[in-house]
Amino acid sequence: MSRRDELKAQLLAKARQRPRQAPPGPAEPARAIGPSRVAERLTRFDAHPGFQQIAMMREGARRLGLTDPFFKVHEGIAGATSRIDGRECLNFASYNYLGLSGDPRVSQAACDAVARYGTSVSASRVVSGERPIHGELERAIAEAYAVEDAVAFVSGHATNVSTLGYLMGPKDLILHDEYIHNSSLVGAQLSGAKRIPFAHNDTDALDALLTRHRGQFERVLVVIEGLYSMDGDVPDLPRFIDIKRRHQAWLMVDEAHSFGVLGERGLGLREHFAVPPDDVDIWMGTLSKSLAGCGGYIAGSRELVETLRYLAPGFLYSVGLPAQVAAPSLAALALMQQEPERVQRLHAISRYFLEQARARGFDTGHSIGAAVVPVIVGSSPLAARLSHELFEQGINVQPILHPAVPEKSARLRFFLSCEHTREQIDRTLDALATAMATAIP
Ligand SMILES: Cc1ncc(COP(=O)(O)O)c(C=O)c1O
Repeated sequence: MSRRDELKAQLLAKARQRPRQAPPGPAEPARAIGPSRVAERLTRFDAHPGFQQIAMMREGARRLGLTDPFFKVHEGIAGATSRIDGRECLNFASYNYLGLSGDPRVSQAACDAVARYGTSVSASRVVSGERPIHGELERAIAEAYAVEDAVAFVSGHATNVSTLGYLMGPKDLILHDEYIHNSSLVGAQLSGAKRIPFAHNDTDALDALLTRHRGQFERVLVVIEGLYSMDGDVPDLPRFIDIKRRHQAWLMVDEAHSFGVLGERGLGLREHFAVPPDDVDIWMGTLSKSLAGCGGYIAGSRELVETLRYLAPGFLYSVGLPAQVAAPSLAALALMQQEPERVQRLHAISRYFLEQARARGFDTGHSIGAAVVPVIVGSSPLAARLSHELFEQGINVQPILHPAVPEKSARLRFFLSCEHTREQIDRTLDALATAMATAIP
């Protein structure tokens, strides 16, 4: 061994003896791992903040004598009614807005596709996972939006993560509504772009932010949703378009809850406001709500879609949508267009719910009465109790608790389906009024 190697060996041996971090104090038991000492809590899942938060919530529910409102098992098709715990319930917790998940024609499309293509496409579409049904679905989506092209991902969440994460970078800026879905937040974080939220639906705040910051960044993207899933309200799309144009930014609209719901024919926010489809740069949507499947899509210009199809990691490095998942969404999209009365029934029953809820003095926030109506009760324990009481009476509605929303706006969130009836709604709202009167003396 040379002198140099000898010295190196001695230094390495010393370094191995010396702990890299100061040992923890007496309150913090530690266990030695190799040369360093690590606080024991950092090695255990039960000490993870996430696990502790869940344990705290469970304990809170137990003390109030409530059952866990999460992971309820639906034993059949979840539509306006659903079988839960062996009981047929009224169901307001599923986003089967057009009642197409469970429609025999949609189910048959899935069966036919699985018989023809098997259960997996067994590769990323870029390599050997491409099947005719993919192109058919994407062309149908692009036609529905009247844009050049569309691309379908295996998950709605992954669509936002991959699209934002890929398109934007550290020299760019993403401005988003403060209520934007987690998938867009995660995508924005992944991209490394500067991220600034603006107050919900506040176009003046967005305009001011762009005036202040636009010049310091290369690409700028504004992200909003077509219909906010906690509140049931919509953005002022024409105003957003005007602002993004003036500041030379891109506009992305997440239509997870608005496609199939807004507009006379269910064509979403652009139909609701009668704006030309090209005024929005990136249309995003999911296959899991009105379209009765699973997955997400981006619709827009040929260049945008081609870029994502070749390079978005959640598309390129992930398996293609299984044919039996693509086929029912394609069938649901066709049925939505052939049976526009579904959309009209959804509008009518949602408006009825909103009017009746308001007539009983419930706080429905800014909901416009389109498929999503919250009843804001102002406290998580109260929301959990009301949901529990209603469930006892065979009515399933999800409580939305802090931290999903601020504590003072904890709520019951009602999803409507075109298959709900007025009688079901009257019964539900009467039961809620009674439960409220009992819970708040
Ligand atoms: C606004 C919004 N975007 C994206 C998603 C993710 O879609 P998926 O659940 O289909 O993955 C959701 C989920 O509900 C959503 O509400």
